[in-house]
Amino acid sequence: MKIRVLGAGAGGGFPQWNCNCLNCRRIRRGEMRGRTRTQSSIAVSSDERHWVLFNASPDIRIQLEAFSAAHPRTGIRDSGIAAIILIDSQIDHTTGLLMLRESTVPLQIYCSEMVRADLSSGFPIFCMLEHYCGIEHHPVPLDGSAFEIPGIGDLRFYSHALKSKAPPYSPHRHDPHEGDNIGVVIEQISTGRKVYYAPGLGEIEPHVEHAMMTADCLLVDGTFWQEDEMGRAGIAHKLAREMGHLPQSGPDGMIQALDRLHDPRKILIHINNTNPILDEDSPERGELAAHGIEVSYDGMEITV
Ligand code: MLT
Ligand code: MN
Ligand code: ZN
Repeated sequence: MKIRVLGAGAGGGFPQWNCNCLNCRRIRRGEMRGRTRTQSSIAVSSDERHWVLFNASPDIRIQLEAFSAAHPRTGIRDSGIAAIILIDSQIDHTTGLLMLRESTVPLQIYCSEMVRADLSSGFPIFCMLEHYCGIEHHPVPLDGSAFEIPGIGDLRFYSHALKSKAPPYSPHRHDPHEGDNIGVVIEQISTGRKVYYAPGLGEIEPHVEHAMMTADCLLVDGTFWQEDEMGRAGIAHKLAREMGHLPQSGPDGMIQALDRLHDPRKILIHINNTNPILDEDSPERGELAAHGIEVSYDGMEITV
């Protein structure tokens, strides 16, 4: 199967429009070896014609234009994007749905009941889209069981709930519910090869560890290097784990978790603009490389 990283950045992208942190300042000035990144999304396919979009980023228009495999092929209106899986209801993962409103068929959206509720209330884009192409919501399992998507042959998906937090506009922001955020194993049926995708992963619970152990490739939360990175940058006193993101460094951080796994290819995604790993010459980036961990970038193509 093929995975295309459409956007490897976290919310805000890199650089972020109003951010003057060390990374944003240095990349703008051309003082840093690194790449800019749009907001978080991937596309997955087994035949390179029919793609499942994971998350719809505010940057989707430019991401899809840069991705010729999903361009229209037949008729006056067409797209290689056959269905959309949403892992949460955050702005960086859902706002792009509004940019898909010209679709000639209802958008086929696979997400949890919690995400459906958020996107029908606090951020009612599902309701808004009813005035355009409309949507068809398909609930996803939260217990790790399988689902398939009509028209997407040879791929099977297994979704499970993750510990996290609903977005600020969610009616249950301060009252976490199962399904506010999910992780997904994507399996190519004919080969048995598996990818695990979890761009927002606050805690490695046993079922998460199990999913990671069975995968051939991991695309997991690369948001922050440090627990107090936002505070250190002088931006906000929110801790990484409080935001539902496991930092890479430190005890019980992502590097330690990934070190326990020997088989899969390990790739970080959803990188926040404050993260020092964006600087390809940083010691932190060197440390990742020493642990065999890659950092994804816009346009990266992965064959599993
Ligand atoms: C997050 O995952 O915490 C988001 O990137 C926050 C946001 O989009 O504002
Ligand atoms: Mn995000
Ligand atoms: Zn910044």
